[in-house]
Amino acid sequence: MKKLITFGIVLPVFVALVTLSCSTDTHEDLPGVEIFQATPYNIPQARFFPKNLNIPSDNPMTLEGVELGRYLFYDGRLSGNSSNDMLMSCATCHIQEHGFEVGIDHPKFTGGRTFGLPTEDHPNGKPTPNFMLPLVNSVYNHNGFLWNGFVNEGNEQLGTATIPDKPEFNFKNIESLVWMSITSSHEMNSTIEKSVAAIQAVPMYKGKFKAAFGDEEINYDRISKAIAQFVRSIVAQNSKFHKYLRQEAELTSLEKRGHDLFFSEDADCFHCHGGSVLMTTNEYFNNAKDKKFDPADRDRHAISGDPMDIGAYRAPSLINIEKTAPYMHDGRFKTLDEVIDFYSEGLVYSDYVHPLMKNVRQQGVQLNDADKAALKAFLLTLTDHEMLKSPQYTCPDELKVWSGQ
Ligand code: HEC
Ligand code: HEC
Repeated sequence: MKKLITFGIVLPVFVALVTLSCSTDTHEDLPGVEIFQATPYNIPQARFFPKNLNIPSDNPMTLEGVELGRYLFYDGRLSGNSSNDMLMSCATCHIQEHGFEVGIDHPKFTGGRTFGLPTEDHPNGKPTPNFMLPLVNSVYNHNGFLWNGFVNEGNEQLGTATIPDKPEFNFKNIESLVWMSITSSHEMNSTIEKSVAAIQAVPMYKGKFKAAFGDEEINYDRISKAIAQFVRSIVAQNSKFHKYLRQEAELTSLEKRGHDLFFSEDADCFHCHGGSVLMTTNEYFNNAKDKKFDPADRDRHAISGDPMDIGAYRAPSLINIEKTAPYMHDGRFKTLDEVIDFYSEGLVYSDYVHPLMKNVRQQGVQLNDADKAALKAFLLTLTDHEMLKSPQYTCPDELKVWSGQ
């Protein structure tokens, strides 16, 4: 009797399930009706990393989208050119083994200052206004992109930083940086039309756009979305420091001493670069480099208009810092030793210095040589060697001749 009752309950549920799944099948089999679904891509959830990701609702990440984005990121034809000496891709400047910066000893961009394709006024290419920023852990950044935060989610509400007549290119996220890279005279110096036409002309992309977006159409919206998905997929979660926090690695006594200096008032770095495993707050500070400021500076003040933001820039993540010289938005320091000497005894007081630069009146935190060596040893534990080599982020073989690297 008992058995029968159970059966009596289970059977209708089973029947309902079968009917449900049959009805979906029938729907998919209808001629002309195809339900497109790419495979969701999940950012790995390492311990202590924030769960709140900056992924716009109109561009969910998919395996196919990220993979297409990787191809486009490494494709110099995105610049709208096909001749060898005029190829420029994102990876011409953003190089994986340098945490997606260019590095200080690049044969072309000597000293780490990048420049775009040649123009009439600049036959050797126009220099980028600032030095580079890394493209690592951007998916966790909700506080604006670029050194001064010009690209940020708030732009939509503010109605600022919109390209006249083209509100769809509102500068609010990584998608918009693709537009900027293609069109700026100090980067690809091209047009969206030329860029899209060049990608449309490459036969292998048809299948890749279909896999990512459901059909073979190639347009700017899809190009920017795929590249942004790839950039968001670049995460660094496996430096020695991260492993130490997860109790998977130990720091040497020197590194540990540097760690303690960094995270205490002694060296006082953590207020701006600490607070989370990202090694940045993504906030904007004037870190006491100069007394005088030029109104032409592209600092935070140029965006916010707040006098307290004069000379302020975003505090970059210190993950992979060993690989991203030169340092600061203007590349003024060539080595980590120079950076540490600056924070120790090189600070310059002005009315705009951020209050968190607490030791500015004493020119810095005044570290002795042993402390400096320890602090540097700690900064070197922030390199994620796995990420810098990961095949997930490298140039696809078939694009090596086109990458403009
Ligand atoms: C000519 C060199 C060059 C090329 C090519 C280039 N970039 Fe950049 N990129 C830079 C520089 C320099 C900065 C820092 C600019 C600033 O803030 O003033 C930057 C900043 C960025 C940032 C902001 C990072 C942050 O955390 O704020 C993103 C994202 C980015 N680039 C993505 C791309 C993508 C995607 C492409 C290809 C479509 C690309 N870049 C092509 C030089 C380049
Ligand atoms: C008041 C906030 C603040 C404090 C405190 C601070 N920094 Fe910075 N840091 C910044 C800002 C802002 C920048 C970028 C400034 C610029 O580019 O002009 C920066 C840049 C850097 C850079 C260069 C990053 C790059 O990619 O170019 C390094 C390295 C660095 N800081 C390390 C440290 C260390 C080590 C300490 C402690 C001794 C420290 N910082 C303390 C705000 C701060």
